Order: sequence, then C-alpha cells, then structure tokens
Amino acid sequence: AANMAEEAKKLAAYAAVDNYVQNNQVIGVGSGSTIVYAVDRLAERVRQEKLNVVCVPTSFQARQLILQHGLTLSDLDRHSELDIAIDGADEVDSELTLIKGGGGCLTQEKIVAGCAKRFVVVADYRKDSKALGQQWKKGVPIEVIPMAYVPVSRMIVRRFGGETVLRMAVSKAGPVVTDNSNFILDWKFEHGQNWKEVNTAIKMIPGVVETGLFVNMAERAYFGMEDGSV
Ligand code: A5P
Repeated sequence: AANMAEEAKKLAAYAAVDNYVQNNQVIGVGSGSTIVYAVDRLAERVRQEKLNVVCVPTSFQARQLILQHGLTLSDLDRHSELDIAIDGADEVDSELTLIKGGGGCLTQEKIVAGCAKRFVVVADYRKDSKALGQQWKKGVPIEVIPMAYVPVSRMIVRRFGGETVLRMAVSKAGPVVTDNSNFILDWKFEHGQNWKEVNTAIKMIPGVVETGLFVNMAERAYFGMEDGSV
C-alpha cells in the first residue's frame, strides 16, 4: 500500500509538471513528499528541453530540493509574480479547499501560492475527499507566534469547538519550530464548518500567523489513483 501511494504521488506530480510547465516561467515549488517527484520531473525537463525556468521555494526543504537539482533559485524579492505554483496537500475537498501544513510549511506555501497566476495541487488518492476531515485526521495546522499559543488555542476552541494540540517535535524535547520560528497548533475540528468564514475568523485572532486552510486558491488538483490513472 505504501508503494502504491508513492507511485500515485509520482504520477500526479509528473502529470502536473508535464501539463503546466513551459519555457521562461517562474515556478513556485511546494513542500512535502509529493513535490519531490515534481522537482525530479522538472529538473529532467529542464535538462532535456533546455528550459529556462526560475524557482521560488516555499520552505527550507523546497530550497534544498531546488539547489540539489541544479535549478535556478530565486525569491519573492526578485520574482513576486509567479506563472505557476505546484504543491502537495494533506486533504482536498470537492470544492478544492485544501488542508495544508502537515509538514509545517503552510505560511510560506500560502504566500507563494498567492503570488502565482495558477496554483496546482499534486497528491495521491488518499488526499481526495468530499468534505475536509474525512481523510486527514490530524486537523487544520495553524502557525502561531509562540507566546500566543495558549490564548489562540482557547479562542479557537471557544468559538469553533473541537480541540487543539501543540505540535511536538519528534527528535527533540519540545514543540515543532517552523521555518519562521513559530509554533504549530493542530486544530481537530468538528464537521460541517464554513471554511471561508473559519479561515478569516481564525486569521483575525492576534498571534495567528496563518492557517493551513487554502480556500479558493487551487485551480486544479491532480490525484494519482490506485489503478495508475491520474
Ligand atoms: C507542508 O507543510 C504541507 O503543506 C505539504 O504540502 C503537505 O503536507 C503535503 O505533503 P505530502 O506530499 O508529503 O503529503
């Protein structure tokens, strides 16, 4: 099953790169395990077709991927208008509302996606969902300023229910610290939320940097399926 999911990630990533990437583009590079396949394919096409593309990363990981593949690294200071951004997701509903941030990179991912004319998601069949929460069980990641994590957590639960968990590091004692030196709250929500409203309301809480809810941002999602189709 694990192998099948890996194959599905690769299929989706290759399809998105093949359909969207063209010469002379500025490309936003997402984070996570699926995007690795997209960068592999991008590097292959750049080599074979001698494409001239510039890449803007969404995380430390994405930056490393771009450099390791010998692609041209840039940033939003130099390229603030992107032709396309490609990224993974933790869950995608039928309206293309996304939960992102399983890897903790949601803030930079949302900034970069917001700068792109077209934002495309690549994922395996396990991310394909009718309603958020049916597939991804860890909740909505929310990046917070460290000193505010307790009040932010309390306000979210009071207003919207569910519960929040401060994401803890695996090989260190203490919380996960993001690429922006903040903490992550994982909000395990109750079903039937109005995501546009919830996203706006949570963002307004002092101390919230960004939510992992991507509403009205993705124009398309590529899912690699178990039968090898996309
Ligand atoms: C990173 O913070 C996330 O938003 C990732 O884009 C998301 O978790 C998808 O990761 P996978 O491709 O590893 O599932």
